[in-house]
This record gives sequence, structure tokens and C-alpha cells, in this order.
Amino acid sequence: MCGIVGYIGKANAASVLIGGLKRLEYRGYDSAGLALLDGDNVRVSKAAGKVANLSERARTDWTPELFQNAATGIAHTRWATHGPPTEVNAHPHLDETGGIALVHNGIIENYRALRSRLETKGHHFLSETDTEVLAHLIGDCNKGDLFQAVCDALHQVEGTFGIAVISAKEPGKIITARRGSPIVIGVGNSEAIIASDASAILAHTQRVIYLDDNDIAIVTADAVDIRDLNNVPVTREIAELGLDSAAAEKGGFEHFMLKEIHEQPESLANAIRGRLDLQLGSSVLAGMGTSQRELADLSRVVMVGCGTSLHAAMVGEYAFEDLADIHAEVQQAAEFRYRNPILGNRDFVIAISQSGETADTLAAVREAKQKGAFVMSLVNVVGSTIARETGRGVYLHAGPEISVASTKAFTSQVSVLLMMALKLGRGRRFSRDEGLKLAREIESIPELVRRVIEKNDTIAEIAARYVDNEHAFFIGRGPMFPVALEGALKLKEISYIHAEGYHAAELKHGPIALLQKGTPVIAVACEGPAKDKTLGNIEECRARGARILGIVTEGDHDAEEVMDDFIAIPRAHPLVATIPATVALQLFSYHVAHLRGCEIDQPRNLAKSVTVE
Ligand code: G6P
Repeated sequence: MCGIVGYIGKANAASVLIGGLKRLEYRGYDSAGLALLDGDNVRVSKAAGKVANLSERARTDWTPELFQNAATGIAHTRWATHGPPTEVNAHPHLDETGGIALVHNGIIENYRALRSRLETKGHHFLSETDTEVLAHLIGDCNKGDLFQAVCDALHQVEGTFGIAVISAKEPGKIITARRGSPIVIGVGNSEAIIASDASAILAHTQRVIYLDDNDIAIVTADAVDIRDLNNVPVTREIAELGLDSAAAEKGGFEHFMLKEIHEQPESLANAIRGRLDLQLGSSVLAGMGTSQRELADLSRVVMVGCGTSLHAAMVGEYAFEDLADIHAEVQQAAEFRYRNPILGNRDFVIAISQSGETADTLAAVREAKQKGAFVMSLVNVVGSTIARETGRGVYLHAGPEISVASTKAFTSQVSVLLMMALKLGRGRRFSRDEGLKLAREIESIPELVRRVIEKNDTIAEIAARYVDNEHAFFIGRGPMFPVALEGALKLKEISYIHAEGYHAAELKHGPIALLQKGTPVIAVACEGPAKDKTLGNIEECRARGARILGIVTEGDHDAEEVMDDFIAIPRAHPLVATIPATVALQLFSYHVAHLRGCEIDQPRNLAKSVTVE
């Protein structure tokens, strides 16, 4: 979603800012802009479309001297919410005087009321955005102290924000603040770089400060002074990012998505390493911060998430009930706080999120904490808001996931959920031997995935047969039902084929009416208790002319026979098999999208991290 970069140093702000925006491109956006301080003026350049357009535009808008010499600036990639992705709606926005510039992530919910109040005071607005209203409000509050003006304006704002503000009257500082939208400040040598996401900072420094909600900071080249909105100083530690900037490069692959799919044997090994206890037949997940005694006392597991993370939660639901004999359920994070969930202190709420910043998942965490539940997170991005607010949880260790379509985060989420289920299961029903057997299955996941990735070329050949369809159905049963949902999501996200995931039995309650000769049905029919019934459902589709692509278990000739095409995955426990089955579908979607010439890493309209409701 929207990205913020701010820079203050000695010179060369424009290049640093454009470089930072490029690092944030993966988040998904549709226009971009930047503002530099130039003596008594703020210079702004904006462009609809890609950062490359902005880069070109800025070089024509500005002199080479300004480009090289400006030492302070702010920049933004916008994912349109209020008003279409045009140049005029792109950030930065200026106040009425033109001397203050603002970039903003989030949504100012009371912007209409604020705008009409400012209009009666003589303010003129150029754009349709909520952000321009905030820029004018800051200008209106400004009595010569930018920091105080931002505080006063933010007191009047309802909604969410991550902001960076500069003023021509107060060069040498950037004011940045957050509520609900992340801000990270990179602390360099006589320079600082502000961003909504650490990937824009990596190339400059590993030393960062994460702002908490309602923090506001005065950032200069040499110091970061953080207060709350009432001007009371607060202390935030400097953390080490511990990320390698090479991890955010494509490393020879044509797309980040393909690279991330191929990284899975390693990312899964990282998620699992050191977390299985092969003596006790259990798992060691220290971040959960719970004793076996506390786990044994839990009455229910409730998982919340969005998108792909929601699908991982749905696999987890099967795992907890089947392996740990505990009632488990999944709730859409977007709905959670509005349905006034019934929760108590024996409920174990797991917030699942790759980014750790998804607005709805974060709100669900806060609601669950209010209700006294035991809350923890399963997050990939270290130091993210959800990780910090839950205070306990398990990191995925999948490394930076750049492609908007999530791949390696999903498989790590499922493997960690399996390890959690093993830990709970061991405390409730598993013998040591049963626990050990499952632990060994989990240990084999990276190898199972490696064997699926070896089939990349075969999967590409199969994908070529499905390129010209505009509709597809994905079906599965049991834990393969969420795999089917995830397969459909992946295909629609990146290839723009209309793909629907259904429980295999549900297809005949409506969607089967859409099947015609050649309509693709992708059936996840790996070995397990539900397989025979899925094969029955496949026959129903075949009888109506559908073309069947099956994900089957290696050597299962009965299943192969009812398929037009099949991808065979290694034999595994049915819950463990969800991971290699998903990887097969990731590769299938990738190749279909590639052959259709789609922009795979940044699909239209999508954002990597959704920080608005
Ligand atoms: C966006 C992304 C999805 C992701 C979802 C949840 O929609 O495009 O790929 O699954 O957000 O994100 P999270 O970071 O919470 O897992």
C-alpha cells in the first residue's frame, strides 16, 4: 500500500528518496511524488504511474543543482483511496501557503468536516484527498513552530496516519508521526532516513527506531527527538534490522515471486530449525511464552488474519482440532471487532500476518486483548506493529517477501501452525511416539517442497494448457479446502483469471451451473481420508465437460486416471501435504500469469501490506 520515504542529510536527497521509493514499489501503488527543500521554497514533483515516471519528471521539473544539492525531502507512493490515481491527487500535498509539504499513509476519517471548516476560513483545495486536508490543517495551526502545529493538527484528526512533514521556514528537520500506519527511522552518520517500511532503509543503515502509535518525532541529520502528542518526551530504543540488502534483490530470477517460491526449502528450514524437540516428540516455541500447563488449560484457539494469512489460519484450524483435540476456529480479521466476539481468558487468539501491519488484523489483536484473551502473533516482519503489540509470538523467519502475492510466508505460517498444534497436542493427547512421528514429518517439509520445485518445468508445460481460460474453479476437502482457496487466490491475483475456490462438495450447490466444456477445475486430491470423496466430486465435474488438473500424491494411479493433467507431490501426512500442494499451485499460477504477460510482482490494484480498513 502507500509508501513513505523521508531523507535528511548533507545532499543528494532526491536520489536517496527515489531509490527508497523504488524499494517500496513492491507494496503496490499507482502514483508517486516527492518534495525537496530549496532555500525558502518547497519544490514538488509528481507523476501518475510508476516511480520511473516520477524520476523522469523530476529531472525535467528541477535543475541538476537542486537534484544534487537538496539535503532534505519527503516522498511517497500512493495507493488511491480518496480520488483517482492522478498527478494532482498524488502526495506530497502542500498547505495553503505552499511552504509546508506532507506525505501521509492511512485515512483521515473526519476529513470532510475538517475540509469544510477550512474552506470557510478561505482555504482552497486542489485535490480530492484526505491528505491535502491534513496539510492545510497543519498550515492553519502553524504559529511558527512546525512540531507544535503538527501536534495541534493531529489532535483534531480521527483515523489513521503515518506522516512526514517539512517546512521551508524550518529547514534541517522532518516531523514524522504515526497512529495505525508504521514509521521506521533509520539512523545513519549525519543523515536520517524515514520510511513506512524498513526495506527503504536497508541500503543506508541497519540502525532503526520504530515509532509507536501517537509518537511524534523531530528528525534532524544528527538526532531523533521523540515525544507524544502532548509534547512529553518518550524513549524508543535503537534496534538492529539484521536484514541483508541482497535479500531484497531478485538474485537472477525473472520475478520476486519466482525467487520466493524457490526460496521455500530454505525459508521453511529457517522456520522449523531448532523448533522441534525430537527427544520429547514435541516442539519448542519459546516466543509463545507459555508453559505446557497453561496450554493444557486452554479451551479454544481462535485465529485471525486476512488474505493468504487467513487461508493459513484455515489449515491451522484443521491442525489444532485434529492433532491437539482443541476447539479451533478462524475469524476474518476485518469482521472480528465489529461482531463483538465472545472471548475469555482460556481463549488463545493467534493473529497471523506476513507484514505484521495489516490494519484489520491489528485491530483484531487490540479487541482480543480488551476481552482478556491470551493473544499472540505469527508474523514475518520482525519489529512490526502486531509483533510488538502482542509481545509474544513466533516469527516466521521467511526473510523479506517482496512479491505482492504471498508464497513463502504462507508455507512458513502453516509449518509454524503445525508445530504449535504438535506442542498443544503433545500436552493433550499425543504419546511421545505419536508426537515424534509428526515431528519427523514436519522436519521433512523443506525436502518435500524441494521435490515439488524440481517439477517446475513440467508445471510450466501444464500451465500452458490453461492460459486461455477466463474462469477456473479450485476444489478440495478437509485441509485441502483452504489449499484450494489459496490456489484460486494466487491465480486470480497474478493472472487476472476469474478463479473461485470451493469445498469440493459445495460445487454442486450452485457453481457447477457454470461448468462448460473445457472449464478448468483444479482439484487438490492428495491421499488422505477425504480423497475418495474428492475423486467423486471430480467425476461430477468431468461429466459436465470440465478439464481437470489434479494435485495428487505420487504413485496414486487411481487419482491420475480421472485427471486430464496432474501434478504429483510426495507422499506425506495429509496436514503436512498442504504445504507441497500449495507450492505446486503457486508454480502453476506463476507460469499461467507469466505466459499471459502479466505484471507478476505488482498486480494491478493490489497492495502488499493493507494498512487501511
Ligand atoms: C494483502 C496482500 C496479501 C496478504 C494480505 C494479508 O492483501 O496482498 O498477499 O495475504 O494483505 O497480509 P498480511 O501481511 O497480514 O499477511
